[in-house]
Amino acid sequence: MPEEPAEPTDRSAVRSLLRLWPYVRPVRARWIGAALVAILASCLALVIPLVLKWMVDGPVADRDPGGVWLGAVYLLLLGIAEALLFGLRRWLVARPLAGVEASMRADLYRHLQRLPVAFHDRWPSGQLLSRGTTDLMLLRMFLAFPLTFLLVNGTTILVGFVILFAQEWSLGLVLLAPALPLMILCSLFETKYSLVARRAQDQVGDLTTVVEESVLGIRIVKGFGRHRSQALAFRALARRLRATELGKARLLAGIWALITAIPELAIGAALVLGTIEVADGNLSAGTLVAFLSTALALRWPVESIGFLLAMSQESATAADRYFEVMDAAEEPEPEAAGEAAREGDRGILLDGVEFRYPDADPGSPPVLAGIDLHIRPGETLALVGATGSGKTTLTALLPRLHDLTGGRILLDGEDIAAMERPRLRELVSVAFEEPTLFSASVGENVLMGAEGASAQQLRRALSVAQADFVHDLPQGVDTQVGEQGLSLSGGQRQRLALARAVVGEPRFLVLDDPLSALDVHTEALVEAALRRVLEGTTALVVAHRPSTVMLADRVALLSGGRISAVGTHQELLRTDAEYAWLMSGDRGAGALVPEEGSTR
Ligand SMILES: Nc1ncnc2c1ncn2[C@@H]1O[C@H](COP(=O)(O)OP(=O)(O)O)[C@@H](O)[C@H]1O
Ligand SMILES: [Mg+2]
Repeated sequence: MPEEPAEPTDRSAVRSLLRLWPYVRPVRARWIGAALVAILASCLALVIPLVLKWMVDGPVADRDPGGVWLGAVYLLLLGIAEALLFGLRRWLVARPLAGVEASMRADLYRHLQRLPVAFHDRWPSGQLLSRGTTDLMLLRMFLAFPLTFLLVNGTTILVGFVILFAQEWSLGLVLLAPALPLMILCSLFETKYSLVARRAQDQVGDLTTVVEESVLGIRIVKGFGRHRSQALAFRALARRLRATELGKARLLAGIWALITAIPELAIGAALVLGTIEVADGNLSAGTLVAFLSTALALRWPVESIGFLLAMSQESATAADRYFEVMDAAEEPEPEAAGEAAREGDRGILLDGVEFRYPDADPGSPPVLAGIDLHIRPGETLALVGATGSGKTTLTALLPRLHDLTGGRILLDGEDIAAMERPRLRELVSVAFEEPTLFSASVGENVLMGAEGASAQQLRRALSVAQADFVHDLPQGVDTQVGEQGLSLSGGQRQRLALARAVVGEPRFLVLDDPLSALDVHTEALVEAALRRVLEGTTALVVAHRPSTVMLADRVALLSGGRISAVGTHQELLRTDAEYAWLMSGDRGAGALVPEEGSTR
């Protein structure tokens, strides 16, 4: 859980829930209409005791059957009207509130796409998933139910008490007596309940993360026989959530018992006192009947306050969780967008580049420090370094997936920090080590690299990446792949990722070990094709094998967070022991690369 729940002292449920207003605004007319209808329906129920009073003091006292029948018809009509009005309320709010939920979800999704990579590094995906699903559902239910009924029941209680006092003010006071202690109890309850509710929601997020990881990693779980330990971990989390939910239920049961019992006692006291008054002749029997049945009609509105408050607290914490994500800053756009002065050489220039991950230990040395590199226009530079030396990190800096913590990067003399992101990402194309395919057709996956590229460009990119196997798939380039489609082998996915990187014919190409999952024969083919692509672009290619390094004009060795040597492959082999060691070790490893592994 990235952020601890805020202390109850510095958060207010009302303030959290008020933030929903922009989403509710468009449907406010309907919502208010529905609330008014519900208030009307609820107050109709309070007319019933008045009809009873009329019946008891009138037709019943006079022994007039016709009058009693008329009274019964009135009561029936009142009941039907109440039911119809509540139905109308539901019809009024159901559709608009589903719209509110959908637009909040759309906003969350849009925002998640724009948050920096650093944010996603920090937040477990299950936490984001649960916020986009269960929390939003809770908020829709809050708008439909607790919010309306807090208003409706509050008004009903108010109107009810006016009627009670009008009937017999002394008995009214007896009923009002428990109000103050109940209010104090409710506010104590709310504070406690909001803490537990928040904890439960966060634990649902943790649980979601575990489920997601074990589904995505099902091959590893099975391959290593980890079912048991995964199941144990899951069970521990589920048990923790269960304990929290039970705690919630206990709190709710406690407040519910008090809210039910205390008014019940007050009604009992009013009954005794009222009967004495009727016996003394100070009160008509009809008035006492009306008084008591009004008090009984108010029982449900009063009792419901407890769980309506509980649901509101839960919704407030759900709103907090939603807005925690929405408040995270999106990638800032550069201030002087598009007006950066060109200076220096063309090609890619890294000037004193320093980078430290935002979540890294402040005392630790930066991953990259003082990197100076110049890749000339049209040149291909291979980046070589031991595992963990920061090669992937460096490639992520060029399309600004992370922002530099020091130095600058110039593309054709233009500082990337001053470029608008869409333009930067059009100029620079990347293929990552982990080729990700989305649930879409092969063609759509490749064309993600360049919006609006032609069918011819697509064919060319596929051929360059030696991905012609797609033409043999069941529906060719229209075959669905990814989670919801056909599983492709690691090598196939890597070739599609490569096609995606080159389809837009980018000026600058960044490839993070693009050939790692290819078998030797395919690798030779892809290399031959890549050679053609690389001729036309300025490229930075992370490489592990001598054969990939051979594609490059020069090689840079990344070691200890710095560029420790630059030169041709032959030069470095001769002069740099670490380089020679890396390249020789690779030959053994190369033979171990699995041929067309069967992972997605
Ligand atoms: N998202 C991240 N947050 C914090 N540290 C990271 C992150 N990604 C990588 N690192 C650290 O940065 C260093 C360089 O990693 P990486 O660039 O992936 O190396 P390479 O690609 O050369 O194997 C490693 O020590 C790694 O632990
Ligand atoms: Mg790497």
